[in-house]
Parts: sequence; C-alpha cells; structure tokens
Amino acid sequence: MHSSIASFPWLLYIFTCWGGGAGADANAPIIAYLGAEEPLDGDISVIGFLTDNAARFNALLVYIEHRYCGKSIPFGSREEALKNASTLGYFNSAQAVTDYAEILLYIKENFNARHSPVIVIGGSYGGMLATWFRLKYPHVALGALASSAPILYFDDITPQNGYYSIVTREASETCYETIMKSWAEIEKVASKPDDSYELEDFLESMYANAAQYNQPPNKIFAGVVAHEGNMSCYVNPPTIETETTVGWRWQTCSEMVIPIGTDNTTMFQPAPFNLSSFIDGCESLYGVSPRPHWVTTYYGGYDIKLILQRFASNIIFSNGLRDPYSSGGVLENISDSVVAIPTINGSHCLDILRANQSSDPDWLVTQRETEIEIIEGWISKYYADLKAIK
Ligand SMILES: *[C@@H]1O[C@H](CO)[C@@H](O)[C@H](O)[C@H]1NC(C)=O
Ligand SMILES: *[C@@H]1O[C@H](CO)[C@@H](O)[C@H](O)[C@H]1NC(C)=O
Ligand SMILES: *[C@@H]1O[C@H](CO)[C@@H](O)[C@H](O)[C@H]1NC(C)=O
Ligand SMILES: *[C@@H]1O[C@H](CO)[C@@H](O)[C@H](O)[C@H]1NC(C)=O
Ligand SMILES: *[C@@H]1O[C@H](CO)[C@@H](O)[C@H](O)[C@H]1NC(C)=O
Ligand SMILES: *[C@@H]1O[C@H](CO)[C@@H](O)[C@H](O)[C@H]1NC(C)=O
Ligand SMILES: *[C@@H]1O[C@H](CO)[C@@H](O)[C@H](O)[C@H]1NC(C)=O
Repeated sequence: MHSSIASFPWLLYIFTCWGGGAGADANAPIIAYLGAEEPLDGDISVIGFLTDNAARFNALLVYIEHRYCGKSIPFGSREEALKNASTLGYFNSAQAVTDYAEILLYIKENFNARHSPVIVIGGSYGGMLATWFRLKYPHVALGALASSAPILYFDDITPQNGYYSIVTREASETCYETIMKSWAEIEKVASKPDDSYELEDFLESMYANAAQYNQPPNKIFAGVVAHEGNMSCYVNPPTIETETTVGWRWQTCSEMVIPIGTDNTTMFQPAPFNLSSFIDGCESLYGVSPRPHWVTTYYGGYDIKLILQRFASNIIFSNGLRDPYSSGGVLENISDSVVAIPTINGSHCLDILRANQSSDPDWLVTQRETEIEIIEGWISKYYADLKAIK
C-alpha cells in the first residue's frame, strides 16, 4: 500500500509487512531509507535491503526523498528553487536531516508508533546523512546502517589521494600500465578538439570498469565535475546534465567540500586539490564561497574513535574496500555498537542493493546477515529497556 502525507519532501510507505500501529505486534520497527542526492524514484527498486528484510522485522518501510531532488522541490519549480543562492541556501544536509526527523516523528505520532524503534539506512552521501541523523536525533532513530559513507573525506582527515589510490590499486592487475602509457596519448588527443574518438573510447572503458563496480558513471561524472568546480576541460561536453549533477555541484560548492586530488603516487597525473581555485570556481558559479570546514565543525570527524566511543551507539559503517570512497570511510570498530563491516571484495553500497540468491557471493550474504543480526540486537535490547521502564 502506498500513500503520502506530505507533498514536500516526497515519501513512500510500504505497510505490507508491518506488525505495528493497530497490528498485533505493537511497537514493530520502522525502517527508513534516507534519500541522497538523487531522485528517490530510482533508488526504490535498487535499494533492496528494506524490502528484502521487511518481513523478518515485521517492519514498516519508509522512503524519504532529499529536498531539492526528484519531486521534492520547494519554491514551486526547479527553476525557482535553483535560481540563486537565496533559494539554494535551503538546500543543505542540516535541512535534509531535519526533514527526516519531522517526517519520522509525524509517522510515530500518527500511526500509533511512538515506541516503534526506527532504523535509518542510507548509502554514500545518504550513508553520511544516516550517520549524522543517529548522532543528532537519537530520540528519533535507534540506529543507523551507513553504507559506503565517506564521513572522513573532509578537511585533511583523509589524504587527498585516498580515492585515486584505490582506483589505482584496483586497476593495477589489469590496466595500470595501459593507463600510465595513455596520458601522453590523451593529452595529444585532447589538444585537438576535433579528434576525440580515442579519448571517447578510453573514457568508455573507464565507465565500463566503473559500472562493473556498481558505481554509476554519472555519479563518477558528477563527482569529477564537483571536484573540478565546473572548470574541467571536456572534450565532448555533455549536452544534458542530470539533476543529480546539477544539485550535487551546489552541495559541493557550499558544504560538501570533499578534497579529492592526486599526487605522484597514483596512476593519474598529479593534480592536487586546489582549494583556492575550487573556491574561485564556486564563487563564479554561485557567488558563494564554499565552507570547507563546515562538515567537521557541525558533525565532527576528527579523532572519530576517541570522540564516538564515549558518545555514540548503534551505527554500522559498511564499506566495500574496492570502492574508492572507502578511503574516507570508518573501517575500524569504535565500540561494541559503533561497528565497521568492511569487505575486501565489496563495492559502493553493494550491501544495501537488492539481494540475489543465485548470484550473490557467500561473503556478501554473510555480510548482510551480520548487519541484520546487529540491528536485531539493538532492537531486542531496546524492547527490553522499554519493558523495564513501563
Ligand atoms: C535571487 O533572486 C531574487 C529575485 O530574482 C532576488 O530578489 C535576490 O536578491 C537574489 N539573491 C541573490 C543572492 O542573488
Ligand atoms: C558548467 O560548464 C559548462 C561548460 O562550459 C556550461 O555549459 C554550464 O552552464 C556550466 N554550469 C554552470 C552551473 O554554470
Ligand atoms: C613525488 O613527489 C615527492 C614530493 O613532492 C617527491 O619527493 C618525489 O621524488 C616524487 N616522486 C616521483 C616518482 O616523481
Ligand atoms: C591554485 O589555484 C590558484 C588559482 O586559483 C593558483 O594561483 C595557484 O597557483 C594554484 N596552486 C597550486 C599549488 O597549484
Ligand atoms: C566489528 O565488530 C563486529 C561485531 O562484533 C564484527 O562483526 C566486525 O567484524 C568487527 N569489524 C572489524 C573491522 O573488526
Ligand atoms: C576476493 O576476490 C578474489 C578474486 O576474485 C578472490 O581470490 C578472494 O578470495 C576474494 N576474497 C574474499 C575475502 O572474498
Ligand atoms: C539474479 O542473478 C542471475 C544471475 O546473474 C540473473 O540471471 C537474474 O536475473 C538475477 N535476478 C534478479 C531478480 O535480479
């Protein structure tokens, strides 16, 4: 059953498996997917973790779209919403997590679910939001599953070359030499705008590799554009940009400053992240100066273990170590309930995608089972505590 209580942001409920509300299993859990920088439509069919496990948890599933994405556009139209910094100013992570809090509290209140534990789930930027949501709103969410969330790729916590070091390592078995040799060729080709065929081939093969690791090429592209602050030299400029590309560009130019660069230790040509040119690019695009220290100021990140071990609980950081973003992920256990589940052969957000019994490798099945059992542990402890205070 689908319905919607709010037109902003857009959300979707699936009640099919829910035992709570007026059902026999009062206080049955709510599992909420926190939307990221893309329209929710595309995620619902891909993110299988919720539907795959709804029956096991008797859970109500809720998917909430991120503001300024998909159908969740304020100011009446995309054009108005994205017009300038006055309207774009409300497009930020703090506003997004507050939307999620309001909606989840509304659901608890109106669906007779005040004591239903809520588990929030997100991937990539959405995984960061899930982490920060648990830290900021412990009275709304009992726990978070943060898949492939590079919460440490801010300021100088993670070395700038972390991302491309992993790309280099992943390529090393197959195409490292080829790519190293390609740079001269690429430069030659790129200097002749009319003759872009070979570069196109090269980029296509890069994209094919990306797809193999479940990394949507447009996401990589969005990332590249964002990091270059729209200053990159495209041989074939894309004629149509996705709304994710456009939206994420604003987010990186305001608060999500992820300093990815390359030094001379990767297979790429050295291109250190240049904050001043990044700022120049953002200022010319939006008349706004990015806040490179905002994420670590508002959410933290430095000395993560020292800080979170005495403050936080109930967060799973899952990372596939083949994913370049895992370089900015939490890969070590912080406490008994703030845990890291890294997988050697995992890729970006793989654990929260739809399960497939015939093709999923054993380690992936085990990883998901571990995550589910950890969440079940949080929930049963919560029920015991709830019973004790009633
Ligand atoms: C944005 O546009 C509106 C109306 O066109 C204008 O009033 C406002 O000052 C602009 N804001 C910025 C930051 O340029
Ligand atoms: C980014 O650069 C491209 C190519 O120069 C241009 O068409 C596009 O309008 C720019 N985007 C923004 C937001 O300025
Ligand atoms: C890489 O850069 C470092 C620091 O700038 C320098 O000391 C080193 O010689 C360089 N290595 C290569 C292989 O160029
Ligand atoms: C960074 O970019 C600025 C232009 O914004 C340039 O003047 C400066 O030399 C660059 N720094 C490095 C280290 O490349
Ligand atoms: C962290 O703890 C969990 C739960 O005990 C365990 O499954 C996982 O392997 C640990 N992670 C690391 C990186 O040691
Ligand atoms: C990862 O994949 C490699 C290559 O397919 C395989 O040899 C290795 O056993 C796998 N490791 C794990 C932990 O699954
Ligand atoms: C599961 O994987 C198999 C083998 O790769 C594939 O043929 C099948 O279509 C997949 N099923 C779903 C539901 O994706």
